[in-house]
Amino acid sequence: MLTELTDEQRLLRDTCREFAEKELKPNASAWDRAHTFPAEAVKKCAELGLFAVAVPEKWGGAGMDNVAYALAVEEISRGCASTGVTLSVSNSLYCDPVYKFGTDAQRERFLTPFASGQKLGCFGLTEPNAGSDAAEQRTLAVKKGDKYVINGTKNWITNGPVADAMVLFTITDPSKGTKGITAFLVETNAPGFLRQKADEKLGICASPSCTMFFDNLEVHESQRLGNEGDGFKIAMATLDGGRIGIAAQAIGIARAAFEGAREYAKVRKTFDVPISNHQAIQFMLADMATEISAAQLLTLRAASMKDAGVRHSRESSMAKLYASEMSGRVTDKSVQIHGGMGYSKELPIERHFRDARITEIYEGTSEIQRLVIANALLKA
Ligand code: CAA
Repeated sequence: MLTELTDEQRLLRDTCREFAEKELKPNASAWDRAHTFPAEAVKKCAELGLFAVAVPEKWGGAGMDNVAYALAVEEISRGCASTGVTLSVSNSLYCDPVYKFGTDAQRERFLTPFASGQKLGCFGLTEPNAGSDAAEQRTLAVKKGDKYVINGTKNWITNGPVADAMVLFTITDPSKGTKGITAFLVETNAPGFLRQKADEKLGICASPSCTMFFDNLEVHESQRLGNEGDGFKIAMATLDGGRIGIAAQAIGIARAAFEGAREYAKVRKTFDVPISNHQAIQFMLADMATEISAAQLLTLRAASMKDAGVRHSRESSMAKLYASEMSGRVTDKSVQIHGGMGYSKELPIERHFRDARITEIYEGTSEIQRLVIANALLKA
C-alpha cells in the first residue's frame, strides 16, 4: 500500500515535480521577497488539475485520490511552499467539505468552478479568540425568515485576499457549545463581506492571508452547509484531511532544504576536502533523509486511510505533527551545513527555514495534534 504507487499517481507526481522544477523553484524567492501571490503559476496549477485532485471529474476535480493529492502538494511545495498551501487549502479545506457535505445545487455553484480552478476558495474557522480552541466561535448567525444575518470576524484566513468564496463557520446557538456551530458557503463579494489588507508574516510570504469582517452579511438558508449545529464536526472532519496537506507541504519544504544541503556539501571544501567527507555532515544528511522518509510514510498512510473511507484523525495528526517538526529540524540542519551561506538571502535555504515554521502552527499546532493523538489513544 505504501510503496506501490499506481501509474496515475506516479504520473501526477512526476508532472508536478517537473512543473515545480521549471516554473516554481526559479521564481519562489522573488515572489517571497516581493510578497507577491503567484497568480500565473497558480493558474497553471489549475490547468494541471491541482485545485481538487480527489474530487470527481463530474464536479470539476481531477477524479484521483488523496494519495495523489499528497504527492502533488509535496512536489509543488518543494518548488514553492506558498503555492503548496494555496493548493492545500483549495483541495482540503474548501473543495473537500463542499463535495462531502454540500447538496448538488451547492456543488454546482460552490464546487465546480472552484475544483476546476476558475475560482479559489478559503476556510473561515479561526477567529481572534478561537484559534486552538476552535469551539470558541463568536461569529454570530441569526436566522431572519429564509436568511441568516452574520456578524463577526475571522483572521489568518489563508487565500483570503484572493478567494472568491469561503466555507464560513458561525455560531447559531450559543447555548449549545460545539453543537451550536453552523457552516455556510459565502461569496466574498457579497455585501457586508469585508477584507483587510494581507497579513505580514515570517514565512510563506507569497501565500496571502488576511482578516475578514462580516457586517450584517445576509446569507440565504440554501447556502447553509449541512444542518444547523453540524458545523463543528464538518470543521474537524475537514481538518483531518487538511492536516495531510500540511504534512505534505512540510515534507516538500524539507526535501528542498535537504537537496540544497547535499549539493552544497559536495562542493564546499574545508580542511582541503568537500565537507561531505566529514562524518559530522554525513550523519546530518543521513538523519535528514531518514526523517523525510518516515514523514512520507506517515503521510501516505493517512492519505490511504482517507481514500479507504476510514476515520483517520489520529493518523493525520501523527503525520502533521511529525512532518512539521521534522521540517523544522531538517531546514535547521540545512542552514547549519550551509554555514554563513545558509543565513544569506542569496540562497533559498533561509526561505525554507522560515517557511517550515508555520507548518507547526496552522491547521492545529503541534500541541493540538498531540491532544488529538492522545485522545484517540486513550479511547482505544
Ligand atoms: N471528525 C468528526 N467529529 C469530530 C472530530 C473529527 N475529527 N473531532 C471531534 N469531533 C466531534 C467529537 O466527536 C464531539 O462530538 P460529540 O459532542 O457528538 O461527542 C465534538 O466534535 C466535539 O469534540 P471535542 O470535545 O473533541 O472538541 P474540543 O472542543 O475539545 O476541540 C480540538 C477539539 C481538537 C482541540 C479542536 O478544537 C481543534 O482541532 N483545534 C485546532 C483548530 C485548528 O486546527 N484550526 C486550524 C484553522 S484552519 C487553518 O489553519 C488553515 C490555514 O491557515 C492553512
